[in-house]
Amino acid sequence: MRKAEGMEVVAVAVVAVLLIGFPSSTNATTDPTDASSLNVMYTSLNSPQQLSKWSPNGGDPCGESWMGITCSGSKVTEIRIPGLQLTGNMGYQLDKLTSVTTFDISNNNLGNQIPYQLPPNVQRLNLAANGFNGGLPYSISQMNSLKYLNVSHNQIQGQVTASFSSLTALSTLDFSFNSLSDNLPQSFQSLTSISDMYLQNNQFTGTLDVLANLPLQNLNVENNHFTGWIPNQFKGINLQSNGNSFNSGPAPPSPPGTPPVTKPNRSHKSGGSGGSSSGGGNEGGGSKSGLGGGAIAGIVISILVVGAIVAFFIIKRRSKKSSSADIEKHDNNQHFTPLPSQEVQELKSVQTSSATSTKTFETLPAVINLKPPPIDRHKSFDEVDVTSKPIVTPKKVNTAPINAKSYSVADLQIATDSFSVENLIGEGSIGRVYRAQLDDGQVLAVKKINSSTLSNSEDFLDLVSEISRLHHPNVTELVGYCCEHGQHLLVYEFHKNGSLHEFLHLSDELSKPLTWNTRVKIALGTARALEYLHEICSPSVIHKNFKSANILLDTELNPHLSDCGLASLVHEPDQASGYSAPEVAMSGQYTINSDVYSFGVVMLELLTGRKPFVSSRPRSEQSLVRWASPQLHDIDALSKMVDPALKGLYPVKSLSRFADVIALCVQPEPEFRPPMSEVVQALVRLVQRANMSKRTFGNEGTPRAGSGDGEDYTP
Ligand SMILES: *[C@@H]1O[C@H](CO)[C@@H](O)[C@H](O)[C@H]1NC(C)=O
Ligand SMILES: *[C@@H]1O[C@H](CO)[C@@H](O)[C@H](O)[C@H]1NC(C)=O
Repeated sequence: MRKAEGMEVVAVAVVAVLLIGFPSSTNATTDPTDASSLNVMYTSLNSPQQLSKWSPNGGDPCGESWMGITCSGSKVTEIRIPGLQLTGNMGYQLDKLTSVTTFDISNNNLGNQIPYQLPPNVQRLNLAANGFNGGLPYSISQMNSLKYLNVSHNQIQGQVTASFSSLTALSTLDFSFNSLSDNLPQSFQSLTSISDMYLQNNQFTGTLDVLANLPLQNLNVENNHFTGWIPNQFKGINLQSNGNSFNSGPAPPSPPGTPPVTKPNRSHKSGGSGGSSSGGGNEGGGSKSGLGGGAIAGIVISILVVGAIVAFFIIKRRSKKSSSADIEKHDNNQHFTPLPSQEVQELKSVQTSSATSTKTFETLPAVINLKPPPIDRHKSFDEVDVTSKPIVTPKKVNTAPINAKSYSVADLQIATDSFSVENLIGEGSIGRVYRAQLDDGQVLAVKKINSSTLSNSEDFLDLVSEISRLHHPNVTELVGYCCEHGQHLLVYEFHKNGSLHEFLHLSDELSKPLTWNTRVKIALGTARALEYLHEICSPSVIHKNFKSANILLDTELNPHLSDCGLASLVHEPDQASGYSAPEVAMSGQYTINSDVYSFGVVMLELLTGRKPFVSSRPRSEQSLVRWASPQLHDIDALSKMVDPALKGLYPVKSLSRFADVIALCVQPEPEFRPPMSEVVQALVRLVQRANMSKRTFGNEGTPRAGSGDGEDYTP
């Protein structure tokens, strides 16, 4: 008996050692990928001394017990470095940290945007109390394990465009003390585990209806611009709601499981009674939304939704993307599948593939934020000639709010010196653009819409309302509009450095040419803008007029895409420009895929410094795409094609990867072109590798193959 017991103990001990691993030998080395991600993070944080033991290259985070790092085996599982006065940014390799479940970098002084690349399997993510600005990264949409998300006390702004459809484990969400705006995302409805939500001190608008059926215990929405009724469901919970414009009294009952339909309210002035937009589809029963009517509406909507989802899955199965595989083969080391949430995909596929299902979604209030641009098939080839007929948009009641300032014609006349030629900064098919300086010194860009492109002011206000909801760091922001005396003007932020077109093609000998890195930055920024329009806005917004003249550059040469949401004013494919996809030239069929083509053309412009179409060149070189695309995979040919203004200052690898992306985008078959999210991912990886190799070369004379980024040496 004794002996047997002894054996058992030994066996248990052996098993335990096998399970835990030998502490001295195997534990000592951190997974090289994890280690190099932390190296990148350290340098991105400006190599702070506070982080004891950390190093910019090599090292053993687990074995050497780097400050704030917890490991399990060789994998890093926790990073806790709050309150250390860290600066800089977190680096762009965090998505490689696949075992990290806790990431806390709160109460530091980090700046810029929150990077796209975050630990994909993180459960607790705390980025609170830093200086983050820009939007929330969409990559949050894919963090299915997330339980705790805190981004409070930053300067995060704009609409919440990330999708929460998959975040069913999330129990605590803190967005408080930022500048987030617009309505709450519909996907909040999927937060089935949420108990604590802090939204206070932002600029949110619309109603709280999407939260009504969540298992909330604590909800703080103070100091926003919320309107409508406080849902009855909040009776038992700890609710803080001061500082909003709620209706008083109890909310009218709404059918369970459906977003309650609010009555349309025609007020434009409130600048954000977003809930009213959800009333757009509710024209039949202007009467009280009694339980009976509401319940029936709920059932009808549910049936339509189920139908649409079934349609989506059928369509999705049929159209397995071949393009994804093309990009993926360059890099199988990707942990986030490129974004768009299921939900957005759903809307997109349904919208582009099936007209009937689109209808079903259109009847769904609140899910739809923006109308798809109507396709116009008139033909004419002259960009300046605007004799084409005004577009006919389906009549509908304009109930959407406008989040932009209304200017008078007089104001803008003074600001532009009566639209003087001196202030003319651009001219396109839609209208002329003027520089405007207001009394307070603010400089803006005013676009005067040609009267021939718009039939009436109601359409114009619809348009303004749609554009006023587009918010993205790489999309030119609409500031205001003017609709008076038959004049239709759009007022935008002004970008001092003009357009990419001017920079590439019109700058004189003396001005400094764009460096390679800046060109890549411009490509990535505009790719993000298109990704936003295509995959985040629902339904997708097709740009229709993507070209270098519509990419404006700010003082830091960050790109801002202009003319977003103006597709309904673009009547004719401008074939002579060289930007139109073949199917557009043939049939006038604009899709998101034709935008992707035009994006590829702009990338070619960046690479070669050439205009997309130059009639004075020899015939074989007139069309940039036709001339360049056969040579994109040939390194020698590429080095001859590259913009001479670069004077050979570019990394060859980066150039050829850039060319690979172009080749995918300008494929003649629209269905083979990649979605913009994949283009973004490909460009992000290109930038990451460029950074890595720079570092590798910078530290020592020779590249070190083991420096954590073997990627740079893989084909
Ligand atoms: C989020 O972080 C801030 C700053 O550290 C803190 O004050 C707040 O309590 C946190 N929120 C939650 C819900 O833990
Ligand atoms: C609609 O607007 C009117 C004032 O224009 C206001 O009295 C009413 O409460 C609003 N209704 C809703 C549902 O917001």
